[in-house]
Amino acid sequence: MSTNRDKLSSSISLFTTGLVLCTALCSVITATSDKPNIIIIMADDLGFDDVSFRGSNNFLTPNIDALAYSGVILNNLYAAPMCTPSRAALLTGKYPISTGMQHYVIVNDQPWGLPLNETTMAEIFRENGYRTSLLGKWHLGMSQRNFTPTQRGFDRHLGYLGAYVDYYTQSYEQKDKGFNGHDFRDNLKSTHDQVGHYVTDVLTDAAVQEIEDHGSGNKSQPLFLLLNHLAPHAGNEDNPLQAPADELARFDYIGNETHRIYAAMVSRLDKSVGMVIDALARQEMLQNSIVLFLSDNGGPTQGTHSTTASNYPLRGQKNTPWEGALRSSAAIWSTEFERLGSVWKQQIYIGDLLPTLAAGAGISLDPELHLDGLNLWSALKYGYESVEREIDHVLDEDLEEPHLSYTRGKWKVISGTTSQGLYDGWLGERVTSEVDPRSEEYEDLIRNTSVWQQLQRVSAGERNISELRDQARIECPDPATGIKPCMPLEAPCLFDIDADPCERSNLYEEYQNTTIFLDLWARIQQFAKQAHPPNNKPADSECDPRFYNNEWTWWKDEQRSSSGTIVGMKEVSFFLIFILTSRWIL
Ligand SMILES: *[C@@H]1O[C@H](CO)[C@@H](O)[C@H](O)[C@H]1NC(C)=O
Ligand SMILES: *[C@@H]1O[C@H](CO)[C@@H](O)[C@H](O)[C@H]1NC(C)=O
Ligand SMILES: *[C@@H]1O[C@H](CO)[C@@H](O)[C@H](O)[C@H]1NC(C)=O
Ligand SMILES: *[C@@H]1O[C@H](CO)[C@@H](O)[C@H](O)[C@H]1NC(C)=O
Ligand SMILES: *[C@@H]1O[C@H](CO)[C@@H](O)[C@H](O)[C@H]1NC(C)=O
Ligand SMILES: *[C@@H]1O[C@H](CO)[C@@H](O)[C@H](O)[C@H]1NC(C)=O
Repeated sequence: MSTNRDKLSSSISLFTTGLVLCTALCSVITATSDKPNIIIIMADDLGFDDVSFRGSNNFLTPNIDALAYSGVILNNLYAAPMCTPSRAALLTGKYPISTGMQHYVIVNDQPWGLPLNETTMAEIFRENGYRTSLLGKWHLGMSQRNFTPTQRGFDRHLGYLGAYVDYYTQSYEQKDKGFNGHDFRDNLKSTHDQVGHYVTDVLTDAAVQEIEDHGSGNKSQPLFLLLNHLAPHAGNEDNPLQAPADELARFDYIGNETHRIYAAMVSRLDKSVGMVIDALARQEMLQNSIVLFLSDNGGPTQGTHSTTASNYPLRGQKNTPWEGALRSSAAIWSTEFERLGSVWKQQIYIGDLLPTLAAGAGISLDPELHLDGLNLWSALKYGYESVEREIDHVLDEDLEEPHLSYTRGKWKVISGTTSQGLYDGWLGERVTSEVDPRSEEYEDLIRNTSVWQQLQRVSAGERNISELRDQARIECPDPATGIKPCMPLEAPCLFDIDADPCERSNLYEEYQNTTIFLDLWARIQQFAKQAHPPNNKPADSECDPRFYNNEWTWWKDEQRSSSGTIVGMKEVSFFLIFILTSRWIL
């Protein structure tokens, strides 16, 4: 009896041990082989209409278009209106008001960053077995070493820490303060190897290298690659738009030189998308990858850092409360999606990407993260568009220019604006007198791209290019049917963004006393009450690159040195501790 019982219990325990072992081992096996690679290519300040998959023929972006038509066009991906808040939302899955990142951007001489107690998407993916790599722009803080990407979840960073750099010298000049320094690093070390090389190409080559190393050396580990291009953001004030001569030569048909250079900058970015997809194909990683292309915010058509970007036909531009600031040019592709070759009109917020991609990777998130972003993976996978999304786009209680922008379903509320409303108009346009000669054979051009062919190889299917291009176009009612002006500095404005994506018809007068508007307004007040105070800090002249070998660096952790050598505080304290402890030991 007892022996039998022992046998039974020992076989149970064997079984349990086996089960435990299997759970551990099997989860290791699934963790290292089933998770998709996540490849995110993010453009900086690319206008909503600077890609050609919505019908523009001013200059074509065949690779991005081929990705878009092969995958799912995200027609309503909402980002924040500027770089820092948008990147903070992407990497935390939270609204900028939840992390204190809502006001303006981090200027290089300001000592603040994404709060250190926030968990980043890179940390989450790394914890779940991914290799995490950031190539290009960071812009979430650099005054302390702890703010920088390799301390925030990235195994690798090649790129710059600040707002932007020159396309060839990789230096950032802050003219008003007389600061000028080099800002380009390979992990924590400054590197000058790229000086003289066009930065779009430098980052593309690094991405290709990362994919090839990964594919040839370590395919069992999934890759999380965030390729944050500089393009087509303006460079330094004295020489904002820069493009290689061979690229420029393709756009002679554009008479205005500024427009021509901009077209070439975007075209080089488009090539980058092609080369990344080719590298994934060569390494046979495409089959198991999710590839996302997006812009961090709308384009700046006029004013600061303007590039002639176009958000046509949307209203406003970067750093305004309008659709032209918020809607990102975006497309996503994965063999997981059931409706490849479609336009997805579901509203999705940039902060939704963390939980959505995590779900796509089978990562379960700790509810303690308290994300604002929603997991829209199944909606994306199956192509349904029925989730009513509430998005707090902007809630900036800055005293000089308080403004807000909020959407729930089709309703959008705006109150206040930036730059006294100077950029509140419809600023972008399509030049019909100068069209890309390649547009005559547009469909052939797309089908001839290697992107198209590679994606067809792993996800074959009929795609009606002209139909998709048509569906992705933004339809706005004829302005003749009634413009009801919005004066956001005087009173709130209300728009039906589904019927009126161009924000021409302000419905506030009609709706101001209705529960529809009052509910929206009450919800906004609730957000305002919960908002984390902005983290912004005033400029600190100690950052001056002259103190640090003409490098932008984490000046709060460095001792400036007249001899030009940089001695890290950390190293100093480590050395002191070492001396002290060795004394004790001795
Ligand atoms: C980080 O700290 C700030 C204030 O110190 C707090 O408001 C915020 O909720 C914290 N965030 C997390 C994720 O714990
Ligand atoms: C491969 O992945 C393992 C596990 O993440 C890592 O430890 C190792 O350094 C990687 N090897 C190469 C060659 O990258
Ligand atoms: C070129 O375009 C820019 C921006 O649209 C404009 O400011 C400039 O005046 C144009 N230059 C010429 C020579 O037309
Ligand atoms: C597409 O490729 C075919 C075959 O190589 C070529 O004949 C044709 O001219 C190309 N068309 C375009 C628009 O590039
Ligand atoms: C593509 O769609 C358009 C418009 O819906 C239609 O006229 C055309 O025949 C379709 N082309 C093909 C090849 O199915
Ligand atoms: C809404 O209420 C305000 C203040 O009571 C009033 O002046 C206005 O006429 C009302 N508007 C409508 C459309 O009823």
